[in-house]
Amino acid sequence: MSASSSQIAALAGDGIGPEVMREAVNVLRAVEQRFSLALTITEAPVGWAGIDSTGHALSPEVMNLCKKSDAILFGSVGLPDRDGTVPKEQRPERAALLRLRQEFDLYANLRPVRLYPQLAHACPLKAERIADGVDMLVVRELTGGLYFGQPKETTQLADGQRRAVDSMVYTTSEIERIARVAFHEARARRRHVTSVDKANVLESSVLWREVVTQVARDFPDVTLEHMLADNTAMQMLLRPSRFDVLLCENTFGDLLSDEAAALAGSLGMLPSASLGVGGKAGRSFGLYEPAGGTAPDIAGKGIANPIAQILSAALLLRHSLGFADAADAVERAVADAIAAGCRTGDIRAASDAPALSTSEMGQAIVTHLLHS
Ligand code: IPM
Ligand code: MG
Repeated sequence: MSASSSQIAALAGDGIGPEVMREAVNVLRAVEQRFSLALTITEAPVGWAGIDSTGHALSPEVMNLCKKSDAILFGSVGLPDRDGTVPKEQRPERAALLRLRQEFDLYANLRPVRLYPQLAHACPLKAERIADGVDMLVVRELTGGLYFGQPKETTQLADGQRRAVDSMVYTTSEIERIARVAFHEARARRRHVTSVDKANVLESSVLWREVVTQVARDFPDVTLEHMLADNTAMQMLLRPSRFDVLLCENTFGDLLSDEAAALAGSLGMLPSASLGVGGKAGRSFGLYEPAGGTAPDIAGKGIANPIAQILSAALLLRHSLGFADAADAVERAVADAIAAGCRTGDIRAASDAPALSTSEMGQAIVTHLLHS
């Protein structure tokens, strides 16, 4: 291990996680070769895989590995079939994923959503609605709102009922920092931010709208619009091309990013970066994961689409390691493989060649990366 080698913790997790992670690691190995970089990639078990091998969804050893690393490449965790077997606090979604988001204060979740022109058939919208393309960036606040707000509890009432509460809590500084990320990202795109809220109903949204409006004054070159969350869900289906950057609190961002993923043809295409403060030389420490989840129904069959995991590795190269050229090259290799007709089952049209397996798709992307 050379002193300058970048350290990556590769946590594949459950379901399709290990299958797609294998391809992303192969792509990173090809990046090392093409760009003469040294990456130290250390694999470790999380999620149910962690519970099975260490007794913890995220063991202290794995947490230490993450702390020593420059970035985490995460697969996915959670197997609903096993949920009843451990207390809810120990389930992988909370004990591994949310814990990492909280421990590293990964407040800024970036989910770029892009419909490749060759995959228009996989988008559920009519051709005329996507004639102007789909290219948006969901900027989701990731460490506040309903996911972490207190009180968060289930209590027993005197009349025998139970009462459960989650709290949508936001402070001005939490809103301000995520708004800055959104405006900053918009500058590298089409300079338009849609801030999503329910200011007609929610206190936290009234504050959200006020603070975002204030932050916008520092970015006079970026246009800001406010849109209610329910209307946003509808407008995304009617005219997705109107959106550039979507700035959302945690829960709205969770919902709208899955909707956006459908527009991109498949959840298997959607990468994400979860960024915090800190990291080397002004870069962000980050956790990079596909937005799609463990997909237990297709796990172990070798048919999952590895592109979301591979594009997540590209985001890691760009945001946490500062290797923008390598990130661009990986993204280009994915686009080239798609343009060359490579399709896993989820993005394949009836008229296309037979579907590729997970590893065939990974290999095709590696080949484009090394030889174009
Ligand atoms: C996501 C996922 C997670 C979330 C789950 C697995 C906890 O849906 O990253 O979008 O709700 O944030
Ligand atoms: Mg989600």
